[in-house]
Amino acid sequence: MVLATKNQIVDIGKVLNDPKRPLKERFRALFTLRNLGGNDSIGCIEKCFSDESVLLKHELAYCLGQMQDENANPILVKVLEDVTQEPMVRHEAAEALGAIGSPQSIDILEKYKNDEVVEVAETCQLALERIKWLEKNNDQSNSENPYNSVDPAPPTEIKNVDELKDILIDENSTLFERYRAMFSLRNLKSIEAVEALGAALKSGSALFRHEVAFVLGQLQDEHSIPYLKESLEDEAENEMVRHECAEALGAIANEECTRILNSYVNDEKRVVKESCVIALDMCEYENSPEFQYANALSEKF
Ligand SMILES: [Fe+2]
Ligand SMILES: [Fe+2]
Repeated sequence: MVLATKNQIVDIGKVLNDPKRPLKERFRALFTLRNLGGNDSIGCIEKCFSDESVLLKHELAYCLGQMQDENANPILVKVLEDVTQEPMVRHEAAEALGAIGSPQSIDILEKYKNDEVVEVAETCQLALERIKWLEKNNDQSNSENPYNSVDPAPPTEIKNVDELKDILIDENSTLFERYRAMFSLRNLKSIEAVEALGAALKSGSALFRHEVAFVLGQLQDEHSIPYLKESLEDEAENEMVRHECAEALGAIANEECTRILNSYVNDEKRVVKESCVIALDMCEYENSPEFQYANALSEKF
């Protein structure tokens, strides 16, 4: 555990909440607050939900979920309930409630599990399944996860790539089962698993596809670059998916990724453009001695 004084946290919070600062500095401030944890850090993060950057706001919610602190629940509920918040931000708030996994969140998730924004509805359904699963399985969800992330679904027992791939793309399976297969494939870390995930970037809902891209970012395997590139380049693709592809390329961080990202750094969609900026910053860090930042970022966007 890292210790910081209240004043230090306040100073970091000022960087996070200053719209005049470059976005990459604000992201670094956010990751520092996430790692420090505690109520003061949570308070600084809460303030930033009135910001204009959807990318930054969705990351605030994500970080609150990963902090696994029940004190963040009321903040996340407020964001989920606020229909003026963008779908990507509300989605991340619901996912974070699932990540924290308090049984008290069941009612609010039930309320929004049929939300008219499909990404929000699906996320609430997943979060509900996760909380029920945790209740039955005494929180064993992270036992096989080689990454430090709290995932929206636990892996399955299955280890066979073909079998997992079938579940992953099966439109008749529940989203929760498909997510479980996705995380099992990720944990296998093989080229075949990466190829199976890459192929799935073209199937399922936008929520599903964005999660596939996220998982490919965690894997940091160069075999996924052509898939990620194709979805980032596809302007008809949902911006939440394109954003996640950009950040996955930033996590892989080789020369080709840098080249691809540079060509979308002025994309018309703000969230894609900002993702490329942050992803290029990740590339720079991944290739520098300051590894801590890159590792924190690749845990999840
Ligand atoms: Fe997400
Ligand atoms: Fe994201």
